[in-house]
Amino acid sequence: MSDEWIKIFESDFYVREMIKVWDEGEKWANWIDEVVSKYKLEKKVLDIPCGIGRVSYFLANRGYKVTGIDISERMISMARSNIQNGKFIVGDMRKIKEIIGNEKYDLVINIYNSLGYYSEEDDLKILESLRDSTRKIVVINLDNRDYIIYNRPNEYYTYIPPYLVYSKVEFEQETSRLKIYRKYYLNDKEVGEMIYEQRLYSIHEILALLKKAGLQPIEVLSGYSWKKFSIMDPEMTIIATPA
Ligand SMILES: C[S@@+](CC[C@H](N)C(=O)[O-])C[C@H]1O[C@@H](n2cnc3c(N)ncnc32)[C@H](O)[C@@H]1O
Repeated sequence: MSDEWIKIFESDFYVREMIKVWDEGEKWANWIDEVVSKYKLEKKVLDIPCGIGRVSYFLANRGYKVTGIDISERMISMARSNIQNGKFIVGDMRKIKEIIGNEKYDLVINIYNSLGYYSEEDDLKILESLRDSTRKIVVINLDNRDYIIYNRPNEYYTYIPPYLVYSKVEFEQETSRLKIYRKYYLNDKEVGEMIYEQRLYSIHEILALLKKAGLQPIEVLSGYSWKKFSIMDPEMTIIATPA
């Protein structure tokens, strides 16, 4: 698949999804603060991809030095206006070294299901560059494929202000790719659509890929909590260190 579809990350529809979950950024920041205390890390974080900066914002407010990278110019410009005391760069997480050079961070975060947009080889490249950009810890948070298969309806409506959104999803079992088709309505009128797909991972698959990338998991948890991950949890959060 060409990269043409990544224009969705510039769209109002996608941006609105990120705004809807802004408040959750504070919960993430609280939890990340606990990670930093537990592993005695410097308060300097690389947030990649950072989106509109919903996690960076709350970290910066706690005195963290934050650097955010995202491929979307629109997301980065929103992050810049949301957080004055951070550094935000438009860039591709498949080529982190080209963006940050040899700079290293105690903590690198890749959260809110931000892998699987490209091929598995690309995900491996991303994980390798996350490994290269950390001195100590990488946090990866992904939706759990097994939960999604058994729990997500094939069709549903959600409200992503100001849009009512119809979603139709199809899971392709041969590739573990979730194909997502969305229609957006405003005042009962259809105003647009968004089509994309994402590779989902089971816990054993992502752990195998981490191993290939030279990352050693230390803890596997459920979302932004300290609960040990179990197979039917919606999200898996892996705290890893370079092997
Ligand atoms: C689900 S959002 C998560 C953003 C952020 N981590 C958060 O929790 O709000 C995924 C983000 O990945 C970005 N993205 C997609 N492909 C990328 C790439 N190759 N390099 C950098 N960012 C990318 C999108 O622009 C989007 O902002």
